[in-house]
Amino acid sequence: MGKNYDAIVVGGGVIGSSVAYSLAKRGLKVILLEKERLASQASQAAAGMLAAQAEMTEAGSLFDLSRKSRNMFPKLAEELKELSGIDIALTNKGMFKIAVTEEQVKEYQQMISFQREAGEQVEWYTGEQLRKKERALSEVALGGLYLPNDGHVLAPELSIALAKSAAQLGATIQEYTEASSFILENGKVQGVKTDRGDLHSEHVIVTTGAWSKRLLRETGIESTDYPVKGECFSVVFEKPILESTIFSHGCYLVPKKGGRLIVGATMKENTYDRKVSVDGIASLLEKAKRLMPGIVEAEWEKTWAGIRPQTADGVPYLGEHPDWQGLFVATGHYRNGILLSPITGEIIADLVEKKPYDDVDLTPFRIQR
Ligand code: FAD
Ligand code: GLY
Repeated sequence: MGKNYDAIVVGGGVIGSSVAYSLAKRGLKVILLEKERLASQASQAAAGMLAAQAEMTEAGSLFDLSRKSRNMFPKLAEELKELSGIDIALTNKGMFKIAVTEEQVKEYQQMISFQREAGEQVEWYTGEQLRKKERALSEVALGGLYLPNDGHVLAPELSIALAKSAAQLGATIQEYTEASSFILENGKVQGVKTDRGDLHSEHVIVTTGAWSKRLLRETGIESTDYPVKGECFSVVFEKPILESTIFSHGCYLVPKKGGRLIVGATMKENTYDRKVSVDGIASLLEKAKRLMPGIVEAEWEKTWAGIRPQTADGVPYLGEHPDWQGLFVATGHYRNGILLSPITGEIIADLVEKKPYDDVDLTPFRIQR
């Protein structure tokens, strides 16, 4: 007989860690399983942008969820600092979504109305106005949306802080433990089989990111998720040359503390290969130089890559399995898992506790869509 828990969370990225944190906060006896180290996959690769407005191109449930989640960060940052001692470096200096073609100028200007109708702040800046605010930008920037409330955090720190805070509240964290299958009986989940033995619980949450397909197939779900590799690099300036984040098609520049700048990210579909390619970094550097020629003055820091979990319709899977009671799925957060982590934790904790989550319509996120 294996051990018993109120909930077993499978996958220790930012989503699993957030779910474990939300459940532990509600007093549940939780175990978080991770096959490698915590936050060793997509969640360590992220630039940490909370781009609730910059990443969303239309109104709808995902836009609503994104804004709600972004607004949870100030309180969360304080809680995590208190519980784990880790500063996630929440920075609220806004984001410019920059147009570099006339088509993008039109496209981005059209986004203003749905964002304002939702009550969000957004302003259009001409190229000249942009360069007055961010002097490092080149003439390539034709104009852009200023989104004062889209900030950023340190992504790996956020994941680790969530897991450590969950542990502080009583959760068990077990690294180097791979879930191989679920224990399913009479329409209910009863636990998880792992390479270190069976664990028992009536609540199991699958948060295995881009590695979810095989586990879900075994439960009768043909999920549409697929991997999208992203490569990044970082440089360090003696003095910071950007105030706000610069978000442009195919390239973003995220200024971190101490003059550090993260430049991301490539988009390579259907590969689990995490090697950083010369081609990927060269194309990013070219785009970054066009936007901000002064990047050549910086000192090179490092490169890295991660695998984003994407779904066919671009919307995450959030909810209970249609056939197996107590089995929940939270994956497919694609480019926005850091942003969506706090709200995902709360939604899953509500579902586990059988509290209806009615702030946002969750129908588009159903697994059986
Ligand atoms: P992961 O972090 O991949 O975690 C899943 C975990 O499950 C892994 O640690 C894996 O080892 C584990 N696992 C898998 N199978 C098993 C098993 N059978 N048993 C046990 N454990 C298992 N998002 C933002 O919001 N803002 C950004 O600025 C941003 N930038 C990004 C930049 C890049 C280059 C990339 C690649 C992604 C970026 N993202 C960003 C997206 C974000 O990183 C992801 O959406 C998020 O990390 C997904 O989290 P996750 O926990 O679902 O997946
Ligand atoms: N959200 C940025 C990325 O996924 O690259």
